[in-house]
Amino acid sequence: MVKAAIVIEFLDPNIKYSIEQKVFVIQIIRPEKKNALLPGMYKALAEGLKIADQNDTVNVILLRGVDDCFTSGNDVNSFVSSDSNNGERPSVVFMHALLTTRKPIVAAISGLAVGIGTTCLFHCDLVYASEDCFLQLPFTRLGVCPEAGSSYLLPRQIGYQRAAELLLLGSRLSSKKAQEYGIITEVLPQDQYLDHALQRCHELADLPTQAVQESKHLMKKGLDKVLPGTIEDELAVFSELLKTPDAQAIVKAFLERKMAS
Ligand code: COA
Repeated sequence: MVKAAIVIEFLDPNIKYSIEQKVFVIQIIRPEKKNALLPGMYKALAEGLKIADQNDTVNVILLRGVDDCFTSGNDVNSFVSSDSNNGERPSVVFMHALLTTRKPIVAAISGLAVGIGTTCLFHCDLVYASEDCFLQLPFTRLGVCPEAGSSYLLPRQIGYQRAAELLLLGSRLSSKKAQEYGIITEVLPQDQYLDHALQRCHELADLPTQAVQESKHLMKKGLDKVLPGTIEDELAVFSELLKTPDAQAIVKAFLERKMAS
């Protein structure tokens, strides 16, 4: 296990930053709500990416949750009466921070990665998961639609039929299957996934910085032109769908603990 984490100022009580040598670790810690993301948490995630990207002592960013949970996605409470279609919404600021970060982002996930917990992985460069972890894109089950550019990225990354199964049906996907699909880099036992991810981060951090960043830039080239517009389109549809009786009823049912699992 890599030691000597330096704790930096926290911008949100549920998001912790630390530096482990040249690796900036951003950790989501709200276990009592399965790491559901609140507006302040999105802001702190975006700010963490920005701080890491601008800090010369950092070469790699590691995004992680707690041991049994990456994140259950957007806090469903914010869906109840949301009528915002504003590009400055914290979740959108986080999505744009993911798009514009020059340094490699590695994700270490376990337990569950739901909603933006899965879509953010499509912007990460390497993803390590524990074998018990599942992914889920339950947008249609909630009466809404994909976000974070996933409607564009996922069909191109794994093929339309597989993407449709995940984005239209919203079924759970095991980390093993996600690895087969190419969404996850490697699946490891629960007691190894984090150390392995950190080890990979350190390997990456010790490589020539400019070569790594330019290589990432080349691989992502063109997406910076397409994805902002895609995210905007998705957000417009999402906001409209959220107002429908279907979506409001589903969200309220979840909050009243009536929704079937
Ligand atoms: N937003 C708000 N609260 C959430 C949440 C979310 N996304 N995910 C979990 N929680 C809360 C639950 O309401 C519960 O709160 P309570 O203890 O006050 O009742 C607590 O976290 C624990 O969740 P619970 O449902 O009991 O855990 P579980 O292991 O049975 O199920 C999930 C975990 C993630 C499968 C389930 O909570 C779920 O489906 N969450 C919603 C996911 C979602 O739709 N996210 C939005 C995607 S766009």
